[in-house]
Amino acid sequence: MEIIRVPKMMREITKNLKIKSKTIAFVPTMGALHEGHLSLIKRAKDENDITVVSIFVNPIQFAPGEDYEKYPRDIDKDCEKLKNIEIDYLFLPDVNSLYPNGYSTYINVENLSDKLCGKFRPNHFRGVATIVCKLFNIVNPNRAYFGQKDYQQTLIIKKMVEDLNIDVEIIVCPTIREKDGLAMSSRNSYLNEIERKSATVIYKCLKEGEKLLKAKINPSEVSERIQNILKKEPVIKEIQYAGVFDPFTLEELKELKDVCLIAIAVKIGETRLIDNLLVNL
Ligand code: PAJ
Repeated sequence: MEIIRVPKMMREITKNLKIKSKTIAFVPTMGALHEGHLSLIKRAKDENDITVVSIFVNPIQFAPGEDYEKYPRDIDKDCEKLKNIEIDYLFLPDVNSLYPNGYSTYINVENLSDKLCGKFRPNHFRGVATIVCKLFNIVNPNRAYFGQKDYQQTLIIKKMVEDLNIDVEIIVCPTIREKDGLAMSSRNSYLNEIERKSATVIYKCLKEGEKLLKAKINPSEVSERIQNILKKEPVIKEIQYAGVFDPFTLEELKELKDVCLIAIAVKIGETRLIDNLLVNL
């Protein structure tokens, strides 16, 4: 595995590989790698000649007061994991190389970015779309791999790629969970023992919602029942959203559709956790 820190060098490397007709897979991450990240990387490796992973904690997708400073960073451990799966390149830029003084260009995917998480994280998806577009321009991959865990993010990136005619195939991979159902997340490390145990309620709600939707219960009723379960959990300090949504527009669903999205964002103590399930009816 080669570590590349300079954007120009990264671009040269993939440019030359493409001339040799190699297919390039790209997995953007913010590090603190867990099995969820590794599942994307393994799939990327299986389906392409060359695998590039990036680790970059992107400051512009964090709002003031969010966890940018305390976001878990452990580059040595991450490198070990990446070496074990034998990826080809780790792109590890620093903040200044991507956002030099005077940086002033941002990408805003309208409508989708204001829904769900967008209501609670101002400018978050503007930061995500901007960094992903920049990384795509640097790495120039054939395929890029994202997790369904961040469903709204996948929708926004697909829309950006379509709207801006970016020549990358977006591949969405299933959410990897702990044995008790909690979706793996770098932020799970913030949870204390009691919070960690209670966090399983999120997956329980998703499964309960799925059962109710399959029994043809109206989505508004399902949302209410999910919220009632969450309200009974004392460690949940805030329910940001919890309910049944249209998987394309992210609007709240009033009637059943062929595919329904159940999505939840809660704060357990100070830790914000999200999860979702797509239900095929
Ligand atoms: P990060 O949270 O590090 O996640 C990197 C990728 O791993 C994302 O595509 C995310 O959806 C996926 N992922 C996270 N947890 C997962 C799980 N339990 N199962 C499957 N996939 C999982 O998402 C970001 O970073 C950033 O917003 C980024 C796209 C890198 C832009 O900065």
